[in-house]
Amino acid sequence: MNRPIDHMQLTMAPMEGITRYIFRNAHAAVFGGFDRYYTPFLSPNLHHHFRHRESDDINPANNAGLDVVPQILSNVPDDFLWAAEECADRGYTEVNLNLGCPAGTVAKKGKASGMLLDLDRLQAFLDSVFAYSPLPVSIKTRLGWADPAEFDAILALYEQYPVKELIVHARVREEYYKGYAHRDAYLRAAAKTTLPIGYNGDIFAPADADSLAQEAPQTTQIMIGRGILADPALPRKIRGGGPMRSEELREYYSRIRDGYCAVMTNDTHILYKLKELWIYLLPLFPEEKKLTKALKKSKTLAEFDQIVPLLIEALPEQR
Ligand SMILES: Cc1cc2nc3c(=O)[nH]c(=O)nc-3n(C[C@H](O)[C@H](O)[C@H](O)COP(=O)(O)O)c2cc1C
Repeated sequence: MNRPIDHMQLTMAPMEGITRYIFRNAHAAVFGGFDRYYTPFLSPNLHHHFRHRESDDINPANNAGLDVVPQILSNVPDDFLWAAEECADRGYTEVNLNLGCPAGTVAKKGKASGMLLDLDRLQAFLDSVFAYSPLPVSIKTRLGWADPAEFDAILALYEQYPVKELIVHARVREEYYKGYAHRDAYLRAAAKTTLPIGYNGDIFAPADADSLAQEAPQTTQIMIGRGILADPALPRKIRGGGPMRSEELREYYSRIRDGYCAVMTNDTHILYKLKELWIYLLPLFPEEKKLTKALKKSKTLAEFDQIVPLLIEALPEQR
């Protein structure tokens, strides 16, 4: 029997510091289940060159076989258009505009979610972007700055443009990632908008995705972020596949670890990145209090490398 979710794309959310190409490739090789991947934001500056990690992330050789959409964070039309041109030159077919990042360093400068505070300025920016972008532009947005009711005016503005797809992280900026996503606000927007619309926020289990798909069958994509960090098999499970097995976790993790070691030279930085990943995975091991504590306290990569295999070995059977 066809389910509403069978008609929707499942996409990997951009997560700065985590979901760059090494992570994307490891996840795709071991678990799969995603139709499309969004890069963490590229932040073009006025000098018009990408940082190394940004150009590596959109290097087509690092993304072979994956449907990848580069995300751009900028409030300067010229800079956005330069980055979009660079993406077009590399063969990408769409770019995504970040209107959601809540970080003070970004938002307080009137970028990303900060653009939702001044709709006249946002309109001027979108006028240029949609007039001159060499590629179709999708938008990832929050509902507003402080109150979900702001989204009525924001959505009306987006509807003036040929937005390729509007992906809504159903929180306002002041909520950062706390509390629950406002699904109700998303459902209201999905019911009335003329734009292709996708959902993002708090999809942690197949039932979360199924219920969303049933409540808003017009949804074009369901984007998942922290849910796959906590359970990398989640997209596969949503598609009817099986739960994660410990040998898969081992393979997935070793691809990520080896990938970082191949491109980073400082063990402390590698440790920091791997720890960040494991903070999301640790709830899989509720009984392993000692190992969990040791992993969190580990100070060197060598120490960390001794603990991880013990944890993976101890992975309880997943559902
Ligand atoms: C560590 C971290 C980094 C993130 N980086 C980005 C980013 O670069 N671009 C973006 O649009 N959203 C970013 N987000 C937001 C996620 O894409 C997503 O909207 C958010 O986590 C809510 O979805 P979830 O409940 O499925 O995690 C980030 C979130 C986290 C936790």
